[in-house]
Amino acid sequence: MRKAIIAGNWKMNKTPSEGVKLVEELKPLVANADCEVVVCVPATNIYAVGQAIKGSNIKLGAENVHWAESGAFTGEISADMLLELGVEYVIIGHSERRQYFGETDETVNKRTLTALKKGLTPIVCVGETLEEREGNKTEEVLKVQLTEGLKGIEDLTKIVIAYEPVWAIGTGKTATSEQANETIGFIRKTLGELFCEKCAAQVQIQYGGSMKPGNAKELMAMEEIDGGLIGGAALKAEDFAGIVNYNK
Ligand code: PGA
Repeated sequence: MRKAIIAGNWKMNKTPSEGVKLVEELKPLVANADCEVVVCVPATNIYAVGQAIKGSNIKLGAENVHWAESGAFTGEISADMLLELGVEYVIIGHSERRQYFGETDETVNKRTLTALKKGLTPIVCVGETLEEREGNKTEEVLKVQLTEGLKGIEDLTKIVIAYEPVWAIGTGKTATSEQANETIGFIRKTLGELFCEKCAAQVQIQYGGSMKPGNAKELMAMEEIDGGLIGGAALKAEDFAGIVNYNK
């Protein structure tokens, strides 16, 4: 039985004081959650938010990590820097990083391997664009992203995968629960072929893309969907809590 994991992806939103306010509101609302609750916050918020959620059931995540131990990589953040602040999860290969910041399957792979080596849990994002879906290329694209992005991983169960159809991110268009379930089923089948069936059956795979309180229950009821990566709706405590408490 896989445990559900609902993670907020704040993207480039909230100053440190705004972030603290948000998690202070969130804490009581999600205190009785049955799922794992994570907030992935901008680097500048990690310290303050980490302090604010101490002792709660909310876990701390970052939005990126570099693969090198340290060095001349202006603007990047190392795993050790994150670990010292109590970060447990890190989003890797979000479509916005791929689209605007030159992230490739190769850099996704390097970041993922380093995160794992350091004991961070990577949330590795995969997903197709609208053009790729309409061209019937979804499975082909996902297979490449998984094969290249996850190359060399020893224990697949130590990662989380987020399936985020790019056309559903921030657009208000959600994949139907059937579409999301079917595609995540394909991802799991592919992982079974690339790694082993038993570990593929255990790995948590989230859906992401315009998930909100109104559609969370239906999406979460699908057999293959083990959680959500939440953008817009993670910026309001009530909305995020509404997703976390999808089963209440
Ligand atoms: P959204 O973003 O929920 O605003 O669509 C999801 C994401 O990009 O992780």
